[in-house]
Amino acid sequence: MVAAVRVHTHGGPEVLKFEDIEIPAPGQGQVKLKQHACGINFIDTYFRMGAYPSPVGMPFVAGNEGAGEVIAVGPGVTDLKVGDRVGYVAPLGGYAAERLLPADRAVKLPDNISYEQAAGMMLKGMTAQYLLNRTFKVGRGTTLLMHAAAGGVGLILCQWANHLGATVIGTVGSEEKAELAKKNGCHHTILYRKEDFVAKVKEITGGKLCDVVYDGVGKTTFPASLDCLHPLGYFVSFGSSSGQIDAFNINILQQKGSLFATRPTLNHYAAKREDLNAIAADLFDKVGSGAVKIPVQQKYALKDARKAHEDLEGRETTGASILIP
Ligand SMILES: NC(=O)c1ccc[n+]([C@@H]2O[C@H](COP(=O)([O-])OP(=O)(O)OC[C@H]3O[C@@H](n4cnc5c(N)ncnc54)[C@H](OP(=O)(O)O)[C@@H]3O)[C@@H](O)[C@H]2O)c1
Repeated sequence: MVAAVRVHTHGGPEVLKFEDIEIPAPGQGQVKLKQHACGINFIDTYFRMGAYPSPVGMPFVAGNEGAGEVIAVGPGVTDLKVGDRVGYVAPLGGYAAERLLPADRAVKLPDNISYEQAAGMMLKGMTAQYLLNRTFKVGRGTTLLMHAAAGGVGLILCQWANHLGATVIGTVGSEEKAELAKKNGCHHTILYRKEDFVAKVKEITGGKLCDVVYDGVGKTTFPASLDCLHPLGYFVSFGSSSGQIDAFNINILQQKGSLFATRPTLNHYAAKREDLNAIAADLFDKVGSGAVKIPVQQKYALKDARKAHEDLEGRETTGASILIP
């Protein structure tokens, strides 16, 4: 038996139950991992609440990101062996001392990437990678707005966008978060709980507005985010930490300047093994070179997953949070 955090009924952080579970031997195409660190992400709260359906039914082990060592290999797995260090993003099963993982979702970790870094970046860092390089190609001369710039995806994306030569504007919930975002590559911060962020973006850009807005906040920043874009700009809605955006009339994109809008997810960008490898390799390269640092700001014991969710949803956290089994 191993320790795990399971959800038996949908609800608030209180439905996260710390219990012992049995992990069977790995089946066809699977490996068994001893986990050294488990990532915490906002998506974990969507599964917990039932906003995203569990692909494995109920009860389920929460968590979608982690890192550990291979301790058993199932039939048909040829590219991994016992002792390999891996990180992953995969639906559910993450908050546990051990887990089964489809081998085709495991990414071997370079020696210079620690388990804690990997658990803090596989989901958030690979998301920043595809958002900046594929969803919209950010480079020298790009002006972008990143909402929740001091968050898990936020701090990584700000550093990376700065490294690519962009002008980075970020919204944040407090003065402390503004300081942290600035230390992590954000050129301009906006306290969006107090200030009108559209007016501030106009002021900062001298009226030119942004090429792209990365919005993981959702309900409370829409549709104002569209007013931060110049004509033909890109609205990238990649999450909904404040709740989902209500249905809207697509004509609004024409009215606000023939805008483009997309709702991307890492699952699709990394669905093919070669894409997963390429995204992870770029992330490892940026972290290995020091261009991007992985800000693991909160560490909790596995049994304290409930507290970790309370802090995340209460806007108390910055950067990445991890659980230590
Ligand atoms: N599409 C993808 O591929 C993908 C992948 C990873 C993550 N995501 C999304 O990216 C977003 C960020 O994820 P994360 O794990 O890095 O979380 P996070 O940004 O560390 O935490 C969420 C932050 O959102 C802000 N926020 C604004 N309104 C909020 C509210 N009503 N309740 C709670 N938080 C609120 C808070 O920052 P302030 O206090 O500064 O406002 C909070 O710290 C989420 O929407 C997540 O679903 C998407």
